[in-house]
Amino acid sequence: GNKNNKGKEIEKEKEKTDIKQPKDDDIPKNKFKIIFLGDSGVGAKTTLIRRIIGEEFNERVDATFSSNFARKNVDIGNNEELILELWDTIGSETFREVNKFFLKNIDCVVLGYAITSRKSFDAIKYWYQTTKDLNLCNLIYLVGNKIDLYDSREVSKEEAIQYAESLNLRYFELSCKTDEGINGFYNDLVNHIKELYIAKTK
Ligand code: GTP
Repeated sequence: GNKNNKGKEIEKEKEKTDIKQPKDDDIPKNKFKIIFLGDSGVGAKTTLIRRIIGEEFNERVDATFSSNFARKNVDIGNNEELILELWDTIGSETFREVNKFFLKNIDCVVLGYAITSRKSFDAIKYWYQTTKDLNLCNLIYLVGNKIDLYDSREVSKEEAIQYAESLNLRYFELSCKTDEGINGFYNDLVNHIKELYIAKTK
């Protein structure tokens, strides 16, 4: 009955998404998929992606209801460039259900929280576990956003660093509002993606 129909619907959805999914050998060697995970409203997804692609900070951002991506081309000299696909996701418990179909061929995961929200930091455990359970990739960042709101800090830098080190995550604190720390994070990300690229093309 109902269950069967639902199963069929999911299969249909899956087929639709599979069509859009390139097969492994169709993916250009210089194209990398980076996915941003974390609770809604921390500004480490939509706003951070906009920062990376060079958009101005905007106080009003609509919450992300579905997943989509932005593209950024990075010149690495020698007439070569990296193509970064920056995937925004919905930050909710239904994440696994909604997103699992396109969680393929991921090169890097950025786990984001706001330093002003203990709740968003605690939620990183869930997002990290999701990353591991789905075996997404090995290059994982932990990013603490909103350092401009230092008066309302709820998570110390020491605690975050310790946590990141214990799980082998690359850690950065930044503010999408003031830009502080954005370059440091971005440069590190590009360098690591470049290493992946060099390893692939060797
Ligand atoms: P969803 O898209 O809702 O899943 O979450 P998100 O993490 O992408 O959050 P979003 O980018 O929508 O940002 C949430 C709010 O935080 C917006 O009002 C942003 O303007 C604000 N915001 C983002 N970054 C910063 C920051 O560094 N400092 C301050 N003060 N506000 C920020």
